[in-house]
Amino acid sequence: MIFRGEAFAKTNLVLKVLGRREDGFHELETIFQTIDLTDEIEVSDGPSGIELECTDPAVPSDARNLAHRAAVLLREHSEVSAGARIRLVKRIPAGGGLGGGSSDAATVLVLLCRLWSLRPALASLVEIGSALGSDVPFFFAGGTARGRGRGEIVEPMADVSSQNLILAVPPFSISTAEVFAHWRPMPTSPGGAVFGANELASAVLETYPEMVRFLEVMSRYYPDCQISGSGASLIAAEDDPDPERLSALRAELPDARILRTRTVSRSEYQRRSTVESAFFQRR
Ligand code: C5P
Repeated sequence: MIFRGEAFAKTNLVLKVLGRREDGFHELETIFQTIDLTDEIEVSDGPSGIELECTDPAVPSDARNLAHRAAVLLREHSEVSAGARIRLVKRIPAGGGLGGGSSDAATVLVLLCRLWSLRPALASLVEIGSALGSDVPFFFAGGTARGRGRGEIVEPMADVSSQNLILAVPPFSISTAEVFAHWRPMPTSPGGAVFGANELASAVLETYPEMVRFLEVMSRYYPDCQISGSGASLIAAEDDPDPERLSALRAELPDARILRTRTVSRSEYQRRSTVESAFFQRR
């Protein structure tokens, strides 16, 4: 049997870092938002163990890939002996602060529950998700949601109004761990109407100085702009779709991939993502 699903990207509308914790993680207060950019995932029966195939040669397809780790962890947790093949069509840039790996992991967990006829409580999947990464549990909610703790304590909120967005993806990726390691408390600009403060921004700019130019150019064209999560992507509100402004931005940042996208509400997420429909059917 084959099961397919779409894994959505996220951004952070606000990201506040409250401090470093004893366990080395940082205490956060954030607002997550799903956006319309997806990876495609297909799971099917496999002879034994977990086999992952990924369309992006730059993304590892072994245990370093969160989707692979998700499958191994679910298999151990549920004492499943069957194997699985996972095919991942990667469109969300890795190391882009867009939660792609976390979203893939959440989607793989749900698709494998179908393949292996497992019906764990949502709380068990959230527990497995949290063990994989701080952002994974958000993808069991989607839409607009508050994140606390290290990001894994998720509380769905009313959706923000639908918003067109511009995403700029620089030609390099960023390590979240490295950015957090350089974080220290410092005053941060309050941000714009859609994108509020990102208290990781200074650490990103200090650790990856090549980001300074991308942020400067992007904010000149789209002032309500922020680094997405721990970067490297930059995301901006586009209130008035203006093709000339977009072309001028592309001309000034020829080394970045520049995409139009938009916010995805929880109801659209429920409809389109495998993750939500799996749970809403059985609530
Ligand atoms: O949770 P995740 O594995 O995605 O986090 C990657 C790294 O980012 C962690 O190992 C940690 O160094 C850092 N991190 C942090 N505080 C958070 C989330 C992540 O320090 N709230």
